[in-house]
Amino acid sequence: MNMLRIENLHAEIDGKEILKGLSLSVKAGEIHAIMGPNGAGKSTLGYVLGGRPGYDVTEGSVTFDGVDLLALEPHERAAAGVFLGFQYPVEIPGVSNVQFLREALNAQRAGRGEAPLSGGEFLKLARAQADALGLDQDMLKRPVNVGFSGGEKKRNEMVQMGIVDPKFAILDETDSGLDIDALRIVGDGINRIMRKPDKAVLLITHYQRLLDYVKPDFVHVLADGRIVRSGGAELALELEREGYAGVAA
Ligand SMILES: Nc1ncnc2c1ncn2[C@@H]1O[C@H](COP(=O)(O)OP(=O)(O)OP(=O)(O)O)[C@@H](O)[C@H]1O
Ligand SMILES: [Mg+2]
Repeated sequence: MNMLRIENLHAEIDGKEILKGLSLSVKAGEIHAIMGPNGAGKSTLGYVLGGRPGYDVTEGSVTFDGVDLLALEPHERAAAGVFLGFQYPVEIPGVSNVQFLREALNAQRAGRGEAPLSGGEFLKLARAQADALGLDQDMLKRPVNVGFSGGEKKRNEMVQMGIVDPKFAILDETDSGLDIDALRIVGDGINRIMRKPDKAVLLITHYQRLLDYVKPDFVHVLADGRIVRSGGAELALELEREGYAGVAA
C-alpha cells in the first residue's frame, strides 16, 4: 500500500494556481528526490502537505496511510508522523530551542495518546541528537534559530527531525548552505533517522551532491506545477549534465 498518495493535486495561493495536477505515490521504505526549476512549485508542495495556511487546494486528493491528509489540521498531520523541514527555517525569538523541541515532541505524543517525556528524558534525547548532528550543545539553549548560521539552522532542523522521529519527512533543500563536512553529516543523519522500512522521505534538492549520500529510489522532475518526468537515481545525473531544457514538456 502507498504511504502517501497524491492525485491530480491543484493548489493556489492568492488566486494564483501553483500546483496544476500533480500526482505522486510513495511507499514505505522509499526515498523520493524532487528536483526542478526555481519557481516550479516544490516548496509549495511541501507547504500544502504540511498544512501551511494560505494555500487553497481546488482539486485532487492526498491520502496518508489511507487517511485524507488535507482534512487534518497541521498539528494532527505532525502527530500522524508528517515532518516538514523548511527551505528557510524560521527564527523564534524568546523561545529556547529545547523548550520549542520539547513542546513540539510532547504535543505530538499527546496527539497519539502517549505520555509526555520528562525534562530529564527529553534533555538526554536532545543532547544525543545534537551530538549526532554535530550541533553544539549550547545551541539547544539559544532562542530557536536566532542568529544561527545558515548551516546551523539546517542541522538544527535535522536535530528536530531526530527528536520527533517522524514517519514521513518532506525535506526542502536541506542541503542548501551546508559546508562540505556538514553535507555529509546531514546526509548521514537523514539515512540514520529515516532510512527504515516503515518510513519514507520526499527530498527536495537542486543538486546531485546530497543524493551521493542519501541514495534516492526515485527521482522526479517537478516543472510548472506537476511531475513531468520520473526515473531512478540516474535521472539526477542526467539532469546535472543536461539541465531541464529537454525535460519540461
Ligand atoms: N503569495 C504568493 N502569491 C503569488 N505567487 C506566489 C506566492 N507564493 C509563491 N508564489 C509563486 O509560486 C511559485 C512556486 O513557488 P515555490 O516556492 O513553490 O517554488 P520552488 O519550486 O520551491 O522554487 P525554488 O527552487 O526557487 O525554491 C513561484 O513562482 C512563486 O513566486
Ligand atoms: Mg523552494
